[in-house]
Amino acid sequence: MNNKDLIIEARQGEALADTTDATGELGKVYIESYGCQMNFSDSEIVASIMKQKGYSLTTDYNDADLILVNTCAIRDNAEKKVRNRLKTYNGIKKRKPDVVIGVLGCMAERLKSTLLEEEKLVDIVAGPDAYRDLPNLVDQVSEGKKAINVILSKDETYEEIEPVRLASNGVTAFITITRGCDNMCSFCVVPFTRGRERSRNPESIIREAKDLFAKGYREVTLLGQNVDSYLWYGGGLKKEFANLSEEEQGKSVRFAQLMEMVAKIDPLLRIRFSTSHPKDMTDEVLYTMAKYPNICNYIHLPFQSGSTTILEKMNRGYSRDWYKARISAIREIIPGCGISADIIAGFCSETEEDHLETLSLMDWVQYDFSYMFKYSERPKTMAERKFTDDVSEEDKTRRLEEIIKMQNKHSLLINKERIGKTYEVLIEGVSKRSEEHLFGRNSQNTVVVFPRQNFSAGDYVHVKVSECTSATLIGRVVDLEEIEA
Ligand code: SAH
Ligand code: SF4
Ligand code: F3S
Repeated sequence: MNNKDLIIEARQGEALADTTDATGELGKVYIESYGCQMNFSDSEIVASIMKQKGYSLTTDYNDADLILVNTCAIRDNAEKKVRNRLKTYNGIKKRKPDVVIGVLGCMAERLKSTLLEEEKLVDIVAGPDAYRDLPNLVDQVSEGKKAINVILSKDETYEEIEPVRLASNGVTAFITITRGCDNMCSFCVVPFTRGRERSRNPESIIREAKDLFAKGYREVTLLGQNVDSYLWYGGGLKKEFANLSEEEQGKSVRFAQLMEMVAKIDPLLRIRFSTSHPKDMTDEVLYTMAKYPNICNYIHLPFQSGSTTILEKMNRGYSRDWYKARISAIREIIPGCGISADIIAGFCSETEEDHLETLSLMDWVQYDFSYMFKYSERPKTMAERKFTDDVSEEDKTRRLEEIIKMQNKHSLLINKERIGKTYEVLIEGVSKRSEEHLFGRNSQNTVVVFPRQNFSAGDYVHVKVSECTSATLIGRVVDLEEIEA
């Protein structure tokens, strides 16, 4: 068993090292992940479970005995990509009939047995709450059966499973704090694929963060579909704080408190989180961010649409004015905070005026960057059942282009304003473009590139910015005395 066998591919096209031991006696598993950070984080749990079972990890699917594809169902094109991959993997069976192919994650949960029965693409189907069962499912396949577990749980958080850190730079890591989502935005498939919202025991979160810090990690990102609704009161499904008994309220932990607990681990451990929800993000969270220098000044606050009419149809639970008030609170409590968003172009019945409201909200906020999407109708969602997907493909494309154009303009403008300023940067590694340069991020989550000198990943440095692109700040490391002089 050499280290090469312990390499896994968790991001398409990138080989990722895991240097811990595994026996590999049951063969090699190849894991590929799609979708959001939570899915990548889940793949680290899956890797841990499979290693425990006796598998080693490989980055070469041709070499694998078990191929696991952790899938996303958020938009139709995400599923199309996965289908093509599954067809490729199925081709391997012609020369290697014993290879077992499993589909995990949100597409597995959405399509359930059709992937096994109608499409005959895979041997195993396992939903996001069924990963502990994977070793059994593999055994079932070796007994000649097709195996499926898509049962969603009310309390599974995999809390005591120590993830195998894949794609790791040894500096930054993700920690999942909630699973599922109870929000039911009308366009979104997540509540169907990930089930009910539940929060993870804070003790296990703190343990994981401390352990990462001890291993040299310097940044953790707390993950959940809606981190602001994190609420621990002893386990089980999410409840509203107001509905807890007095005793439960007394021992409960909410997101601001959780963040504070993680921030207190060590001033050298940076904290980020994703995703915040405009309807649930409290001032308490913002004040906690302002109080601890190691909680990064960056908030991802998706707004989806700038039109209150569309927001209502999306069932987002806030209006344009409410969203603007949240942005004002961020600006007031955390001056200079980086802000990003998710935006959907061409949702059902979106008019040109609605679209212009999206552009004008972008112009008012001036986001650092955004994830921008064309609306894609998803089966079973409220939008699919109640509304017509009536914006033409041409209009969706044009509106998305206008949104992207505006975002690029703002990203460049914001970065230009940063020229001449100095930022604390946590170094993540060597720049992709040049061996002579390192890269890291400032607190606002912007990538900063600078000459390598004698610095290395995991160091904190102060970088004075001299140039920029819309996505990157470029500068050089300076002494603090030099800045103060
Ligand atoms: N929980 C997060 C987002 C999760 S999904 C939140 O509520 O903000 C990530 C993003 O995908 C969403 O913010 C949305 O912009 C986009 N998205 C979700 N469903 C979509 C759909 N049907 N079509 C297009 N984009 C979608
Ligand atoms: Fe989907 Fe809305 Fe939940 Fe985000 S908050 S995961 S968009 S249902
Ligand atoms: Fe995709 Fe599931 Fe994440 S649908 S975005 S992988 S929660």
